[in-house]
Amino acid sequence: ALERTLSIIKPDAVAKNVIGEIYARFEKAGLKIVAAKMKQLSRKEAEGFYAVHRERPFFKALVDFMISGPVMITALEGENAVLAHRDLMGATNPKEAAPGTIRADFADSIDANAVHGSDAVDTAKVEIAYFFAATDVLSR
Ligand code: CMP
Repeated sequence: ALERTLSIIKPDAVAKNVIGEIYARFEKAGLKIVAAKMKQLSRKEAEGFYAVHRERPFFKALVDFMISGPVMITALEGENAVLAHRDLMGATNPKEAAPGTIRADFADSIDANAVHGSDAVDTAKVEIAYFFAATDVLSR
């Protein structure tokens, strides 16, 4: 089915100057960018975005990392976009990520793991709405 997913290029990958390389992978996989912005997240924004993890032991480190520099936030659209994007990212822990995935190629640790992607279509709707007004998502 035609889906949308939310993708975030995290501060580590932005600092490595690989935004274009990551976007090229999305495009080659048939995903279209339908919204995008670079943003310095505030602590409140990062905490709200990751609210589902607030009781986890890694929450503070996650939020500290996500506000350590600008991120690139993108809504992607395509056939089975959620799974397609997850396949491109690879496993959350780069040590477990398959060769050729974004995390295998660009991530340094489970915290600095280069990218975030929605885990399901429902989550994607919430996550896209968290960062983009409906009128700023340009289906094409
Ligand atoms: P992300 O897909 O952005 O969702 C939550 C993030 O928490 C995850 O990527 C990791 O970067 C980070 N994280 C740190 N430790 C863990 C852990 N033990 N399990 C899952 N996520 C973790």
